[in-house]
Amino acid sequence: MITVKTVRELRAAIARARGEGKRIALVPTMGNLHAGHAALVSKAGQRADFVVASIFVNPLQFGPSEDLDKYPRTLAADQEKLLEAGCHLLFAPSVEEMYPDGRSDQTIVSVPGVSEGMCGASRPGHFDGVATVVCKLLNMVQPDMALFGEKDFQQLAVIRKLVRDLNMPVQIFGEPTVRAEDGLALSSRNGYLNDEQRASAPVIQRTLKLLGERLQAGSSDFAQLIDDGRQQIEQAGLRVDYLEIREANTLQPARSEDKSLVILAAAFLGTTRLIDNLALHLD
Ligand code: PAF
Repeated sequence: MITVKTVRELRAAIARARGEGKRIALVPTMGNLHAGHAALVSKAGQRADFVVASIFVNPLQFGPSEDLDKYPRTLAADQEKLLEAGCHLLFAPSVEEMYPDGRSDQTIVSVPGVSEGMCGASRPGHFDGVATVVCKLLNMVQPDMALFGEKDFQQLAVIRKLVRDLNMPVQIFGEPTVRAEDGLALSSRNGYLNDEQRASAPVIQRTLKLLGERLQAGSSDFAQLIDDGRQQIEQAGLRVDYLEIREANTLQPARSEDKSLVILAAAFLGTTRLIDNLALHLD
């Protein structure tokens, strides 16, 4: 695996792989990699011949009071994990390389509809930052495909719409969330939790599963389900940011006739905000 830090080096390495007729997959990340990222990279290796990963803690997608400065930067450990997972090329640019004209002078890509509500409401500007950096990375690498985790369900919807609306010639794959044994979705932010918080965190997934079972059993009183779910999460000491039942493709509020649903949750443990979701199809 080679690591490059500039767009120029990236393009040269990609051109070589293309010259050898290779199909290229991109796995964009912000580093501090865990087994979920490794799964994306190995899946990319099954789908393509040449796997590119990027590590860039993107300042555009962090709000002013968020964890940009303390977000873990662990390049050496990440390089080892990427190598082991079968990555061929790592792009690890600086902020200056990504935003040479400065952040405030950067063209912003804004995806309407699916960016609104939930994480879009709690983190104003977040999805503009995500859409902008993903658009830039896709243009820099020009991969045949890009892979993202389904844990960030709303982000995935934003990226799918971005690619569709801008006619970008790339296939987007969403890959299943990787979980700890107790069900907690793997996330770089889990590292912020103390032991007590870590022990409480799986209540998010337990609640999603319970709500999913009630939906499958025919319950369509969404407001009641959400109330019960909130109560269960808050009893475990978390503060619910949002808990919503949405139509899985449009992310519009679910209606009783919808068959493809997703339950999405975000909750705080202290200052750490965790997200998770459960998609389900009603028979
Ligand atoms: O999911 C992430 O790690 C980031 O939001 C992404 C897609 C790499 C964009 O910075």
